[in-house]
Amino acid sequence: MDFKTIRPILGNGKKLHIETYGCQMNSGDSEIVVSIMQKEGFFYTNKIEEADIILINTCSIRDNAEKRIWGRLKEFSKYKKLNRKLIVGVIGCMAKRLNEELIEKSKIVDIVVGPDSYRDLPDLVRSIRKGVKGVSVLLSQEETYADISPVRLDKSGVSAFIAIMRGCNNMCSYCVVPYTRGIERSRNPQTIINEAKDLFESGYKEVTLLGQNVNSYGWSEGEGDKIGFPDLLRQVAAISPQLRVRFSTSHPKDLSDEVLEIMVAMPNICRAIHLPAQSGSSRMLELMNRKYSREWYLDRMYSIRKHLPDCSITTDVIAGFCGETEEDHKETISLMNEVGYDFAYMYKYSERPNTKAQRTMIDDVPEEVKTARLTEIIDLQQKLSLESNKLDIGKCFEVLVEGVSKRSDTKLYGRTSQNKVLIFDRKDYKIGDYVMVNVTECSSATLKGESI
Ligand code: SAH
Ligand code: SF4
Ligand code: F3S
Repeated sequence: MDFKTIRPILGNGKKLHIETYGCQMNSGDSEIVVSIMQKEGFFYTNKIEEADIILINTCSIRDNAEKRIWGRLKEFSKYKKLNRKLIVGVIGCMAKRLNEELIEKSKIVDIVVGPDSYRDLPDLVRSIRKGVKGVSVLLSQEETYADISPVRLDKSGVSAFIAIMRGCNNMCSYCVVPYTRGIERSRNPQTIINEAKDLFESGYKEVTLLGQNVNSYGWSEGEGDKIGFPDLLRQVAAISPQLRVRFSTSHPKDLSDEVLEIMVAMPNICRAIHLPAQSGSSRMLELMNRKYSREWYLDRMYSIRKHLPDCSITTDVIAGFCGETEEDHKETISLMNEVGYDFAYMYKYSERPNTKAQRTMIDDVPEEVKTARLTEIIDLQQKLSLESNKLDIGKCFEVLVEGVSKRSDTKLYGRTSQNKVLIFDRKDYKIGDYVMVNVTECSSATLKGESI
C-alpha cells in the first residue's frame, strides 16, 4: 500500500460545534455538515466553549432573523479571545446572501459557506490553517447530498427529518429562499426510502419528508416513469405501519387529491397538513405571486375536510404585505375563521433585498399598522387553537412518546397524529412508545390526558 496516497485526517479529533437557526431544512443540513466533517476526523460537541470550530447555520427569511445572527456573531468574539485558533464559519442562507460581507463586517468570521457548498467545508478549513479565509457560496443545479447519511443531532431517537428536495422555483414575490437556496431539485427516491428504512430499523418511529414545496417533488431516471410526491409518500409509508410519516411544506397550488387519497388509505401518514395561505385576499395572493386564489385555497381545504375529517390544518400568515388594505386584512381574518386553523405561524411582512417585492413594490403598510394587524391575527389564532383543542376533550388519541415533560418528570409528552402535543402520566411508558391517551383538559397550546 502506498501510504502517501492516504489523505491525512484533517480534523484529527478536533471538536466541531454547530448552532442552527431557521427552518427544518437548516436542521437537516447541519446534520449533513456534521457527517461531512466527521469523515474528516472531527468530533461533534454540544459544548460551544470546547469547540475548535464553531459553525452557525443561518436564516435570511426576515430581517429580524438576520439581526439575531449578527448579535450572536458579536458574542462569539469572546470565544475567539479564549482560543486564538478558533475557526468561526457562517453557513446557510445568510452565507449565500451576504457572502464576503460577513467576513468584512463581523471581523471574526473565517469561512462563509452557502447551502450547496458543504462538501467544500473540509478544504476551506484546510486553507484557514494556511491563513487564507474562505468563501464558497455558488448554488448548484444538482446537489442534493443524496449519498450522505446525516448524523442525527437530535438525540431523542424517535423522529427524524428527511430532505427530499432542495431549493424552490416558486418565486413568491416577498421571499428570499429562491435566492439563497437556488432552483428546485429532487433527490433520488431510492436514497430517500433507504434513509427512512435505516431510521426505522434503528428505532425511529417517525419521519418528516421535507421540502419548500413537497407536492412538486419529481424524479425520473432514463426512460423510466416519473416518480412524483404521491408515489414517494406511498413508498415511504409502506415501510411499516409502525412508522409515522409526515411531510412539509405543501403549497396550496399543488396539493392534489391523489395525496389525500393515499393518506386515507394509509393511516400511518399523519393527519396533519401544513398549508400556508399567507393571506386571505386574492388580490394580495396575486401580488405575492402565490398562483392561487382564496377560492382555490378554500377548495383545497374542503377537499382535505372531505377526505380526512380528522386532519388538522395549519398555516403561515403574513401581515402587512405591500399595498395591503384594511379590507385585505379582514379577508385574512375571515379565511382564518372559515378554515378554523389548528395552529399558525404568523409574521409581519419584512422586506428582503433583491426580491420582486423589494424591486417593484412599496413596503407601504406603516409599522404600527403591521403590528396591530399581526396582533389581531395572533389573538384570533389563540382563540381558534383553543376551540380546536376543546373539541378533542373526551376523545382518545394514539400518541407517539417523544420525551419527559419539562415541567414534571412524572409526565411524558408526545404528539397525536394531528401533530398536537399531549401530556400524560409517565407510568411505565418509554420514549418511542405508542400510547392511547384520553384527552381530559387543554389550553390553547397543549392537550392533557390519561393513558388507557
Ligand atoms: N416554502 C414554504 C415556506 C418557507 S418560509 C411555503 O411556501 O409555504 C416560511 C414562512 O415564512 C412563509 O410561509 C412565510 O409565511 C414567511 N415569510 C417568507 N418570507 C417572508 C417575508 N419576507 N416577510 C415575512 N414573512 C415571510
Ligand atoms: Fe418562499 Fe414561496 Fe418558495 Fe415558500 S414557495 S420557499 S414562500 S418562494
Ligand atoms: Fe430561513 Fe433559509 Fe429556511 S432563509 S427559512 S433557513 S430556507
